[in-house]
Amino acid sequence: MGTLPSVMDLRLPILWLLLAAELSVGLRNVRVTVPTAVRRGDSAHLYCEYELEDNERLYSIKWYKGKREFFRYTPQVHPSVQVFSTVSGIDVERSLSNESQVVMRAVETNYSGKYSCEVSADAPSFHTIIVSGDMEVVDPPIEQPSVTGLQARYRPGDILRANCTSHNSKPAANLTWTINDVPIPPQYVKLYRPIKDSYTGLETSILGVNVMVAHDHFVQGKLKLKCAASIHQIYHEVIEQFIPEDRPRILATGVSASGHSINLYQGSVHESELTDQSDAYLTVNGYKADKSSPLSSSSGSLQIDSYVKVCWVTFYICIICTVMVYSIRYLMVT
Ligand SMILES: *[C@@H]1O[C@H](CO)[C@@H](O)[C@H](O)[C@H]1NC(C)=O
Ligand SMILES: *[C@@H]1O[C@H](CO)[C@@H](O)[C@H](O)[C@H]1NC(C)=O
Ligand SMILES: *[C@@H]1O[C@H](CO)[C@@H](O)[C@H](O)[C@H]1NC(C)=O
Ligand SMILES: *[C@@H]1O[C@H](CO)[C@@H](O)[C@H](O)[C@H]1NC(C)=O
Repeated sequence: MGTLPSVMDLRLPILWLLLAAELSVGLRNVRVTVPTAVRRGDSAHLYCEYELEDNERLYSIKWYKGKREFFRYTPQVHPSVQVFSTVSGIDVERSLSNESQVVMRAVETNYSGKYSCEVSADAPSFHTIIVSGDMEVVDPPIEQPSVTGLQARYRPGDILRANCTSHNSKPAANLTWTINDVPIPPQYVKLYRPIKDSYTGLETSILGVNVMVAHDHFVQGKLKLKCAASIHQIYHEVIEQFIPEDRPRILATGVSASGHSINLYQGSVHESELTDQSDAYLTVNGYKADKSSPLSSSSGSLQIDSYVKVCWVTFYICIICTVMVYSIRYLMVT
């Protein structure tokens, strides 16, 4: 019982001392900059910044990966830089590392994780602050993404079903689908669970699309389908395809299914090509492209020629008739 009050007496000043150290805030604004993603094999630069009050001195800067210390800077000790490579497994570029930065050489995928910088002020405060950031080492895919399951052509109302696959990366790539550069809404897209190679640990991502093709999707007869694969800021690859519109065959009879008015040129082109079914696409493209294309212009001018002839003949007949009518009237009057 007799010792208890003395312990209590001791505790209070210690508490005050700690509180005073906390209040003096010798150390402020400790900030760490850890790259979110680094390509495997590249070097990684990690920065630690801090502010010390005038009456304070730096005691140490320690870097940890997870809970394991791999670098220490202590200005009062010689050498001031200490690297603990064997225990941490981290290869530090000593010549480029100091109190403000540490540089890691040729990072491997097992370098991914949490990095912390611990800054301590010297006596009397020994104020210590630790801040951390996450780094991910990226092993990008070797192959380009691939698109499978596409048809050669689509017509409005068809279902476009395809998969975009990005092979073997770490982490799995993010995939996105766009039509004419507009992202396909999530309800038409299916993200499959990435497939992990148990030996290499690399992952393959698959994103499916299942969307009804609309007439508006075709710009100048083509639908622009894109799949983009990305991994943070490290990797970005786009596969772009222009898929032609498959015009319904019914057009060949001169009736437009999509409600377009068919002019002289279209009608004549299709009539002249009716017998040759294998050329249906050619004629469709011929009139869609422009009137200067040889196919449509030649048959179009042919048609004009015959119409002009018919007009002239009718005109002459009318004149002859009029002259005759007036002649007969004149004769009857006289
Ligand atoms: C990463 O793996 C290599 C080879 O297995 C090993 O030598 C190294 O210590 C590991 N590094 C880390 C940071 O885990
Ligand atoms: C630390 O090293 C880098 C690279 O050599 C250098 O640019 C920087 O000024 C150094 N910082 C300090 C505080 O010495
Ligand atoms: C897309 O991939 C999934 C998963 O591998 C498969 O089940 C599906 O049949 C594929 N779809 C197409 C259109 O290839
Ligand atoms: C994938 O995208 C999400 C959302 O934009 C992002 O948070 C994540 O970091 C990305 N992952 C990769 C591996 O790029």
